[in-house]
Order: sequence, then structure tokens, then C-alpha cells
Amino acid sequence: MTPRQVLYGLFVGGLLQIFPTECKTHISVVLVGATGDLARKYLWRGLFQMYTEQLDIHSFSFYGGTRLHSTEGSPVMYEIIKGLTCLPNVPSVKCVMLKDQFIKLSQYHQLNTVEDYSDLDRKIDELLTQEGLKEEGRLFYLSVPAFAYVDIATKVNATCRPQKGPWLRVVLEKPFGHNLDSAQRLAEELQKFLREEEMYRIDHYLGKQAIAYILPFRHDNHQALEPIWNQHHIERVEIVMKETVDAKGRTSFYEQYGVVCDVIQNHLTEILTLVTMETPANISDSEEIHRNKMRVYGSLQKPSRRNAVIGQYQAYNAEVVQELQKLVNYRSNVPTFAGIGIFLDSPQWDGVPFILSAGKALDERVGYARILFKDKAFCLQSESTRKAEFSQCKPKQVIFYVGHGDLNFPAILVSRNLFKPVMNSANWKQVTEFPHLHLFGLPLSDYYVYTPVQQKDAYAVLIPQILQAKRDVFVNTKDLLASWKFWTPLLKDLSQESPRIYPGGLQNGNNLDFTVAGTVVSFSSPDPVVIVPSSLNHQTASDYKVLESSYRGNRLVSAGTEELVARLASDLHRVAEATVRRSGKFHLAVSGGLSPVALFQRLASHHYTFPWKQTHFWMVDERCVPLHDAKSNFRSLHDHLLAHFRIPYMNIHPMPVHMNRRLCVEEDHGADLYANEIMTLVNGSSFDFVVLGAGTDGHTASLFPNSQALAQKGKLVLLTESPVKPHQRMTLSLPVINQSKNVAVLITGKSKHLIVSKMNKAEENSEKWPITSVQLSDGELVWYIDSDALSG
Ligand code: BG6
Repeated sequence: MTPRQVLYGLFVGGLLQIFPTECKTHISVVLVGATGDLARKYLWRGLFQMYTEQLDIHSFSFYGGTRLHSTEGSPVMYEIIKGLTCLPNVPSVKCVMLKDQFIKLSQYHQLNTVEDYSDLDRKIDELLTQEGLKEEGRLFYLSVPAFAYVDIATKVNATCRPQKGPWLRVVLEKPFGHNLDSAQRLAEELQKFLREEEMYRIDHYLGKQAIAYILPFRHDNHQALEPIWNQHHIERVEIVMKETVDAKGRTSFYEQYGVVCDVIQNHLTEILTLVTMETPANISDSEEIHRNKMRVYGSLQKPSRRNAVIGQYQAYNAEVVQELQKLVNYRSNVPTFAGIGIFLDSPQWDGVPFILSAGKALDERVGYARILFKDKAFCLQSESTRKAEFSQCKPKQVIFYVGHGDLNFPAILVSRNLFKPVMNSANWKQVTEFPHLHLFGLPLSDYYVYTPVQQKDAYAVLIPQILQAKRDVFVNTKDLLASWKFWTPLLKDLSQESPRIYPGGLQNGNNLDFTVAGTVVSFSSPDPVVIVPSSLNHQTASDYKVLESSYRGNRLVSAGTEELVARLASDLHRVAEATVRRSGKFHLAVSGGLSPVALFQRLASHHYTFPWKQTHFWMVDERCVPLHDAKSNFRSLHDHLLAHFRIPYMNIHPMPVHMNRRLCVEEDHGADLYANEIMTLVNGSSFDFVVLGAGTDGHTASLFPNSQALAQKGKLVLLTESPVKPHQRMTLSLPVINQSKNVAVLITGKSKHLIVSKMNKAEENSEKWPITSVQLSDGELVWYIDSDALSG
């Protein structure tokens, strides 16, 4: 018996049993990056635990490598291994022995050049031959920065592939790119050297015990869940990862990734797929799980800027300046907090908000997926006589609790008024302690609470699954790219936005609370940060959020975009209420374009008490496309505002651009029809409120510079031509706009700065800048110009 064979002895129940190595197959494990932070904290421990659990099935050898020579790398690596601990259920004598074996089976190997990898291959082969071992496979765990993956994969492929038969598996740690393009490039590069089935991309959240159990839980509780796991019963799903740590020391990584790429694109999105996918008929069928996951990606609605709020903790920018040696006036837009509403286009999930939220420097560390059910019950029975925990009037929820927070262990919680879950008792035990601890509004005694019989960290859960080729708990290339494809457009939009600054920790207060109304996500409280355009220095910054001044002789309101839109929405609301009180109706005409979209969304998410039923909606202008077309101004009004409220159909007045199956043809008299409708319904053809925009060329409504339409005096509604597509337009004329009672001109964004500056002091010039001819005969014109447009 060789010394190695002696090592395979295992102390079981006090007896040293020798397992003949001939029956076992041999696995060589190579940890590249063996002395890094992750290896130190988790990977060696995960490998050790895998070893202790599997040594009666396989024999192992472990090679730890870094780019350093062994005189430097080896002592560090051994110091880590010597500090390893066993799972709590392993008796200490046995643990000492197992650790001793593990240390003896581990060796350091410098891994830098291709020759180093060839040497390693030779070493593995020699050992196999000397010991007469039957090779099962080789596992390379790359715990190195992603830029090194391709280089290492090339070397492994060139030198360390096992002879025919045994497998090669290469484990990769995120990040796998920072957008669709970079992820695609990395995937294509890796595919040159590794086959799909050889790559195991780790998302360690898939190894968190409560998360890893989502699918088995849904499978085992199919009977109870099947009827209620859908839009008819589920109010919303919250997938949350709050952290107290900040990005200090990691800003070079964080500047490139931000919170969305760091944890939402991967960890939280994976959880979303586990909650929403169809449960596989066979829970161990990785292929079927992947197929179902892909279907979820296929049904995700494209998120827009309005589905998200972002924040950045106050100290972050200074940390970036210091760590990355940026100029002191450097301003990072990278979010360290995000709250995002995701929606699915599927009969099962239609309308259910999936709220994904994560952040650094928050008030607590906690992670969970919480499924909150709709409250449909009315309890007649008095509280004193009903059995409290089963009451149908209490919130009903299922929670997959990752850990930390108030409940400091992983758990699955099911409200007692829902059902008693079926749990695998070999792995999960019921918790009856802490009955008075409150979690999500209920005492723990109101839930069935289960925790793992044995707590394991995520890597200890995932690493053994590599040996079993359980590929569904790893991220394959298709999933990865589908996820990036989903997130990349939103990331691009968010990169243009300034995140809300929050103080960090407990001081955050309710600053980051957000509201999900329809599909719109917005902060619940106004931004406490003072924003005053720097060019208007006659005001002090200290006590104004919204600045009042004048522009072209009319009132000017200016602030950051969000604040400004909020202000316009409340001004509009005030005028609407007063008008309805006076005349019973409110006639509002709105423009198209992007700036009003923000207004519509603000109204939809914050103005439930607006007199919607008495409001008549008119269009300032329309593009000559069918109303369902994405470019239609009416379609935008519909999607962002009308769809969120019950508004009588007869109050809605889209422009008749589509008649007789053709678009804006003079002989169809669409413009005249609209003018007649205005004359019939709007008293004196004078709108109560008109929301206009202004283009970078000074156009307003669909009245463009040098257009003949500007000279039209007698018509209320006209057909015009735009220099940009879609060229044909229908628009209100200047005379009808000018006889309105209130006009708000909303101008936002840096691209408008030039025109705003040019028009500031200039004379009215209708031909050159049509917006300057908006001058009300008997009403109030107010300019709402955001700080970007005002001060650039
Ligand atoms: C990592 C992120 O994936 O997960 C880190 O890169 C984050 O930013 C970490 O801190 C959190 O993991 P855990 O296991 O501590 O919740």
C-alpha cells in the first residue's frame, strides 16, 4: 500500500476504515488564484468540505496556484489551509485527521507561463501513473480577475486536457462582462478553448441554501402552490439584497459595474427566474430547468428608465477620486443603490411587479425573496375570538430568507394562514424559537419557519455540484447573454442619470424608500438635495429646491428634472381642481416627445386624487402614424397615463390622423374634424391647460421654423411637415394655443441648453423659433426648464 493509499483511510464511528483506492476514481482539483481573498474566505473551505463529503466515492489531489514562485506563494497557501474548519457535525478528532489528510493531498504549484501549466499536467499524469489511479476528471477553479480567463483557458486547453475519457471542468467567477457586448465577446473567446459543458460559471447566490431550495420547494408544494402562484393571487414579489458594506477599496471595480451589474443582473435576476419559471416535471433535469429559465427571459418586459430609481452613497464619489486619482471635480454617476420594477408578459404574471432592490451602505444587511399574496379576505369575526395565526385577515407571504438581518440564519417562511409546507426533513428542520420576533409585519409564530439542518455557505453547496455536473445551478452562456440582453438598454439609460445621493447607513432614513405605481417606480419622498443652476447666482443655494425666476418676461420654474416634473405635475393638479370646482370640466392639451412622458408618469404614480373623471384629454400635435404605433403621441399618453386610471372614453380626444385607412390626407378633413370637436366641446376653444415642449430648433407643437403653418391665422388645427421623421404631422395652430388659459412649456436636458440660452434675450421671431410666438392673449405662460437645459 502506498503512503497515498494509507491516507485514504477514514475514521468512521471510531474505527479507521481503509477504502481501497482502486474502487474510486481520481479527481485533480486546481485552484488558480489560491491565495486571493475569495480563496481564503470560501474556496478552500468549500473544497475541503467537498473532500470530506466525497472521499468515499473519489480520491483527490489539490493543486493551489498563483503567478508567484512557490517560495512566496506556498507559505501563504498552507497558512490558509491550516486554518480550515469542518462542518459542526464532524467530531473534532475526525476533523483533525481529515484536515491532516487534506493538507497532505494539497500542494502549491506556480501557474504563470504555459510551461508552468505543462509542468502541472506532467505532475498530474505522474501521480495517476505512480498510484495506479483511474482518472475521473480535472477541475480548474479560476478565482482570478475576468481579464485573465481567456489566457488561462488557452493554457489549460493547450496543456492540461486529460486524455480521452475523463472530464475537464473549468469554474469561472463573475463578472462575466459588464454589458451584452463585453459578455458576448468574453463568451466567444472562451468558446474557442472550452466546450459549453466544460464551463461552470458560478453565481454564488444560487448556492445560498434558501435560494437553492426555491425550485425543490415549489416542486414539493406543487399542490398548494399551483392554484395561487399567479397574478390573481400574488400582489408583488420583492427580491432584495441590502448590504451595510460600501465600495471602499473596490471602487475601480465598482466604477465599471455599479450595483446593477454587480448584483442585480446576476444574483437577483437568477432568483427572479427561479420564482417565475415553470417548475420542471423532473427537478433534477438541468436541461429542462434551463429551457424554462430561457422562457422567463423571453417574457420579460423591456425595462425603461421609469421603472427604476437609483442612488449613490455620499462618500462614494470622494472614495473614487481618492482611489482612482481622479480630478477633484470628478462626478461619478455610478449607482450604489437601485430599486427596479420588472414585469412579465405572461398570463401567469401579468401585472405583478417584481421589485428588485440592492444597495451598499444601507442600514442593514439582509437578503430575501418575498412573495406577498393579495389580501382578499374580510374578517367578520372579532379579533379577540379568532385564532390569530390562522386569521385570513393577516398578510399572507412566502419568504426565502438568505440570512443576516433580524433572523440571522437562512430560512423558508410560510404564513400559517396559507398552508403547511411539505419540507424535506433530512435537510430542513422546523424552527419554533423566537416566536415574538417580528419579520415582515408578523411575529415568527405566525409562520411555519424552516432552516437547514446543517448551515453551509454558498460555495460549500455549489462546489460538490460541479462534480455531479448539476449544470442548472450554474450559469450557461445562453442564460448569461439573455440576462445581459435584458439589462443592457436600461444600464445605458441609467448611465445618463444622476443618482440620488444618500448619506449611508442608518442616516438614510426613508430617503431611499420608493413607490411602485402601475409600472412606474419613483422615490417616495422628494430629493432632499438642493439643486440650483449655477449660472443663476442671484439666488442662494441654501434654501431653494425649486428656483423661481423669469424667462422671456414670463415666470420661470427651474430645478433638477425629477423635481421640476414633480412641480409641474402639482401645479397642473392644482389648476385642474380649481377649474373643475368652477366649471365641472378640465380641458387639457398635451404634446408628444420625451419630456411630457416624465410628466405623465409622475401624474400616474403620484396624483390619484387628480380629477381624472372630469378631465378631457386633447392632443397638441400628433405624428401621422396609426395610434397604436410606438411613435404615436397618443400611444405615449395612453401607455404612461391613461392606462393607469379609469377615464371615461368620451373624455379622450386623439387627433384623427388615421382615416379611411390612410394617414393625414387633406381630403379626409381630419384637421377640420378635430377643430370642430374643439369648438363644440371646449368653451370658446380656450383650453384650460396646454403642455408644450420646445425642440432644439425652437419648434413647438408641430410648428417648425419657416413653416407656412405659422402664418395661418384662421384655423385651429393644421397639417404640417416636420424636417424629421415621421414627416407628416397634425397640430394645434398658434392662435388656438395663444387663447388658452394656462400654458406650461416644459424643456429638459442638456441638448436644449443652447436654444434656451439663445432665446433668453432674443426678440420674438416666429419664423426662426416658433416657441417665441407663444404669447397668451389672456392667460399665464410658465416656463419649466430643468437645470441641465438652463445652465448646461
Ligand atoms: C458579490 C458582489 O457577488 O456578492 C459583492 O460582488 C457583494 O459586491 C457580495 O458584497 C455579497 O455576497 P454575500 O454572500 O455576502 O451576500
